[in-house]
Amino acid sequence: MGNTAAFDATEFRRALGSFATGVTIITTRDMQGEPVGLTVNSFSSVSLNPPLVLWSLANNALSLPAFRNNGHWAVHVLASDQEDLSGRFARRGENKFAGLDFDEGEGGVPLLRGCMARFQCRTATLYEGGDHLIFIGEVLSFDRDDAAPLVFHGGGYAHATQRDPAHTSPKSAWLDGSFSGDFLGYLLGRSHFRFYAQIRPLLEQAGLSDEEFYVLSALTLKQRMAINDLDAGMAGVLDDGSRDALASLVARGLARSVPEGYELSDAGRDCALRLISAATAVESQVLERLGPGDAQVLKSLLNRLLTVIDPGAAALWDGAP
Ligand SMILES: Cc1cc2nc3c(=O)[nH]c(=O)nc-3n(C[C@H](O)[C@H](O)[C@H](O)COP(=O)(O)O)c2cc1C
Repeated sequence: MGNTAAFDATEFRRALGSFATGVTIITTRDMQGEPVGLTVNSFSSVSLNPPLVLWSLANNALSLPAFRNNGHWAVHVLASDQEDLSGRFARRGENKFAGLDFDEGEGGVPLLRGCMARFQCRTATLYEGGDHLIFIGEVLSFDRDDAAPLVFHGGGYAHATQRDPAHTSPKSAWLDGSFSGDFLGYLLGRSHFRFYAQIRPLLEQAGLSDEEFYVLSALTLKQRMAINDLDAGMAGVLDDGSRDALASLVARGLARSVPEGYELSDAGRDCALRLISAATAVESQVLERLGPGDAQVLKSLLNRLLTVIDPGAAALWDGAP
């Protein structure tokens, strides 16, 4: 088949990239018995009965002879925390399995761990497909785990999130032009108050105000915190209040002044660790109701929002281990 494409190759790639896919790694063994694999997003299901899947391999891939020769291969559907693994297997040729723990499947095929789903396959049919070779495989066995998927879209990695079926269009107030239920300030503010309402009883038990808790937790970030760093970290959150909260922690023996700034006392460290562990337990309960994928998406988006709205926030963490 000749080159019939009359359009721009970059634009064509870009248009194809608008189709969001999952990400897989497909593995086999070469003629010398060495493990071989590559990152693939052309994977697709074909048939339930018989169970068939397909993917396409570039004719210039170094792994092509191994896949042509070995009738067995395994497809690993990657989870959202496996972006590094995807990057490693997208690099041409080099020893991609170095330092990786893997098991052996049908026909001795390497089976990677920690993936969302794995399909062990035997080549059923091969088709020439332009500059790719299309593999259709019969699925011999599979396993799966609940996790959030890694997504590839527009030439980069992305998150997948569940749509809220109850949320069709934003709710509006009776007064035209007023806030809608989608107003970011409303969503963030209400979430913050309701979330903190679950943590506040723990603070009350310890006799701490919200402000004192913020400063106490900030002091856990570094062994010693210069007062300027604390002020910068709390800027726009507590401002003047951070000094009062700090003074109160010092007066109660939870923090103390040292030449370089401030540090937690032993009692302060115990108190902070107890509260933080109780607060993260509350967090886990809330996030569990969102599911692992959406919990990760939420955190990733809030982090991005913070870098946009509060670029100084990261300063508080600078130098933290
Ligand atoms: C997200 C992603 C998806 C990819 N999908 C495919 C694919 O479907 N088929 C393919 O041949 N290469 C695909 N690649 C490129 C290969 O992973 C890459 O060329 C790899 O270096 C080939 O390894 P090899 O030359 O050692 O066989 C993809 C790369 C990435 C990052």
